[in-house]
Amino acid sequence: MEVELKAPNGKSWSQPVGLFINNEFVKSSNEQKLASINPTNEEEICSVYAATAEDVETAVSASRKAFKDPSWKGLSGTERGALMTKLADLVAENAEILATIECLDNGKPYTVALTENVPEVVNVLKYYAGYADKNFGQVIDVGPAKFAYTVKEPLGVCGQIIPWNYPLDMAAWKLGPALCCGNTIVLKLAEQTPLSMLYVAKLIKEAGFPPGVVNIINGHGREAGAALVQSPGVDKIAFTGSTATGKEIMKMASATMKNITLETGGKSPLIVFEDADLELAAMWSHIGIMSNQGQICTATSRILVHEKVYDAFVDTFKSKVKEISVVGDPFEENTFQGPQVTKAQYDRVLGFIESGKEEGATCMLGGEPAPINGKGFFVAPTVFTNVKPSMKIFREEIFGPCVAVVSFKTEEEAIELANNTTYGLGSALFTKDLTKAHRVAREIEAGMVWINSSNDSDYRIPFGGVKQSGIGRELGEAGLAAYCNIKSIHVNMTA
Ligand code: NAI
Ligand code: MG
Repeated sequence: MEVELKAPNGKSWSQPVGLFINNEFVKSSNEQKLASINPTNEEEICSVYAATAEDVETAVSASRKAFKDPSWKGLSGTERGALMTKLADLVAENAEILATIECLDNGKPYTVALTENVPEVVNVLKYYAGYADKNFGQVIDVGPAKFAYTVKEPLGVCGQIIPWNYPLDMAAWKLGPALCCGNTIVLKLAEQTPLSMLYVAKLIKEAGFPPGVVNIINGHGREAGAALVQSPGVDKIAFTGSTATGKEIMKMASATMKNITLETGGKSPLIVFEDADLELAAMWSHIGIMSNQGQICTATSRILVHEKVYDAFVDTFKSKVKEISVVGDPFEENTFQGPQVTKAQYDRVLGFIESGKEEGATCMLGGEPAPINGKGFFVAPTVFTNVKPSMKIFREEIFGPCVAVVSFKTEEEAIELANNTTYGLGSALFTKDLTKAHRVAREIEAGMVWINSSNDSDYRIPFGGVKQSGIGRELGEAGLAAYCNIKSIHVNMTA
């Protein structure tokens, strides 16, 4: 159930390849597997077992049993928090291996995985570990005839479906609050990046979680994912991924009226007002679209710039992209941008770039593949100017290092352009005018607004969208609401 792997940075480890059910790695029922590809050299890393619908049911049953078992149900919040802290410590101890796996399987720069992604897992687990004994109900005083109080109770078995852009972090955002509240979990990983969380599964067992509390499976979306969403044994589905799949999940979850939270796509605006610090705006604009190979749901992929500073901004932004966005082998220390995660994503991004050119936008930087030694799913960082709001590159989520820059004349026009989208996830604005900043922040239809930064998210602050960007919130105290019921208890005090 394990294979020995070695990465270009010299790290070697035993990679689990099974389905993690009841704290054991097992084969899939028909022994089907899926191959994980290294997007840097297009070679297969290894293959892992892919769950069938039957395997999903096995995992769900294990999770149901664990939910009722005194070894989990009987724990106090403090004890659950201690297990989570232990897991966080083990993740920190294994940071280099986890960052290596993430770099190999996803293509993100090793230094980013090591200094940002793995620490995020540790922080999120510790944050929610701290909440495990501080998330309680209320006594509601309605007079002497009745004693009323609320209890926060876990939902039960949570099915969690995550994407490939942040395999470790998306798992942590979902595991943290779910475990904190006392739920049990079946986590389905993305088929493109199955490896890092299977390694974390070993650490979950080592930390001492009882069998069945956390089950981690790989499998295809339409098979394993759909089976999880439809299973009558699952009480809740939490999903991060595309808006199209999110809608399918809503439909499938309706049959058993499951509690759902969805974190889906975006086409987030970044507004640069006339009085903005252009250097600062260009720096964050670069971070906001070019980080993580542009594969971020909150990527600020539409930059709206006041016409008076348009040319000056574009010049500064262009030189930032040229200077910082070094495309290369993700194990190289000076690499900022690795390959897109898969051939499919690479083709999709290049398709959008073609459409931008065909629709008449000006491709002023990039706009082409950027292979390393003739290999890999690399796309040159791409900047389009002269973009019209009717163009596909302005309307649709590209999920790659490609940005559309548009000009506006007035604050009203900027707000209208910003809100001219079916999405509503992130947004950013740059101005030195304090009242304008807060006024515009209120007008933008989005779950999050960054003033004078972009994609500056924080695990202590709620994260989520409006419109077709999702339902519910993750992170922060608000993230707990997705994982517990409030039960009201009425006690009649009259004789
Ligand atoms: P996807 O939404 O299809 O996949 C995300 C997860 O959902 C994966 O674990 C997948 O196995 C699962 N899934 C797929 N179909 C399912 C189904 N019918 N029932 C249950 N689970 C299912 O996204 P995909 O195809 O990998 O990427 C396509 C586009 O989606 C990207 O180009 C990007 O625009 C967007 N996306 C957005 C993400 C975000 O963070 N909001 C993350 C990944 C993709
Ligand atoms: Mg891969």
